[in-house]
Amino acid sequence: MRLEGKLKVVGDKSMTHRALLLGAMSKGITTIYHPLVSEDTLSTCTALKQLGIKIECFPEYWKVYGKPIHTWETNQVINVNNSGTTIRLLSGLLASIPKRFTLMGDSSLNQRPMQRIINPLSQMGAQFITQNGKAPFTIVGGNLKPIEYTLPQASAQVKSAIMLAGLNAEGKTIIHEPIPTRNHTETMIPLFGGQLNYQEKSIIIEGIQSLQGTSLIIPGDISSAAFFIGAALLVKNSHIQIEQVGINKTRMGLVNILKQMGANISFKNIVNTFEPSATIEVKNSPLKGIDIFSEQVPSLIDELPLIALIATQAKGTTTISGAEELAFKETNRLVAVYELLKTIGANIELKSDGWIIKGPTPLIGGNIHHYGDHRIAMVAQIANLISKEEIIMQDTSVVDVSYPDFFEDLSQLIVKE
Ligand code: S3P
Repeated sequence: MRLEGKLKVVGDKSMTHRALLLGAMSKGITTIYHPLVSEDTLSTCTALKQLGIKIECFPEYWKVYGKPIHTWETNQVINVNNSGTTIRLLSGLLASIPKRFTLMGDSSLNQRPMQRIINPLSQMGAQFITQNGKAPFTIVGGNLKPIEYTLPQASAQVKSAIMLAGLNAEGKTIIHEPIPTRNHTETMIPLFGGQLNYQEKSIIIEGIQSLQGTSLIIPGDISSAAFFIGAALLVKNSHIQIEQVGINKTRMGLVNILKQMGANISFKNIVNTFEPSATIEVKNSPLKGIDIFSEQVPSLIDELPLIALIATQAKGTTTISGAEELAFKETNRLVAVYELLKTIGANIELKSDGWIIKGPTPLIGGNIHHYGDHRIAMVAQIANLISKEEIIMQDTSVVDVSYPDFFEDLSQLIVKE
């Protein structure tokens, strides 16, 4: 068996959320082409619809009919299910509305830390009612004032929540991020006619800004393409091309480290719009171990579970450090990846901020848990391509959170020999 052929992956999740939220607060209509249609982005749609925004979903595009933010309201609790991006970014917008909103998620999201957005948004003047800094919480927004804020942890979600609040706060909001994180909010605000001053580690937004609806095409999600990149590298004689994938520099950590590990990966057909995209070509390659440090982590945060799997097949030791944020994802991914890889025969050691993995190790099969986490389930499915026996997990529909067509797309690339 090998992987062969061309594929176009689903639209970028981070960009789809942002396009919906910015479109909702803009004047006029926003048309989003190639949106990610998945449980997480539908959670943003449903939340916005509850707040009074009209959104039409057609197979090729979504249309958002923006409404002034002070007219948004709902008398229901907004349940955003599993989506951390929805709850954190939406809070940034609701923080400026002098009404009462209650947000909650599923049992996973309700365990995740929200104090990280509550702190800066409270400093700006919003009020929060919460138990233990977690969802469910209630926001009573208000007349926001700008702040200067240094992010205590590298988080694009926290940065974006403050930026969205900053658009609706009179004066200059300044955000410093010691380690740069994904910058899609920064690249998208100007498309909607907004202004910001953006250098590598600081962002200045002067509010109050009024945005204008626009049309945009969302590139393919590098975090979804990642699974096929990993599969093609690991399965003998594979050669694939993934078309129109977003190659924003702040998301390129996976490709950069794989190249250092010896991977044969190249880009062609580069298109530069508000976000660059390209065809990514990958050939099966022998790999060697590598050290990954905290400065690289935000650029590959969602790909770390896959990188851990790839490291089991690389020659030598791979050390991943500075990744303590993985404990706060859809599940504790530090532990989930350790348990998964250990169960299927990897040589892996768990640290408080990452793992030490020695390879190459032949993988065996077995019954594994994905802990309700879409990315852990997809990593397990890629491991299944190279394991001796089958890897079995319950309820694979968990992939619907970010990639409902994952299994179909993967099977399209598989050639049985
Ligand atoms: C995201 C940012 C990252 C990432 C998440 C999506 C975003 O989270 O893990 O999947 O769209 O801003 P953090 O910013 O909390 O690290």
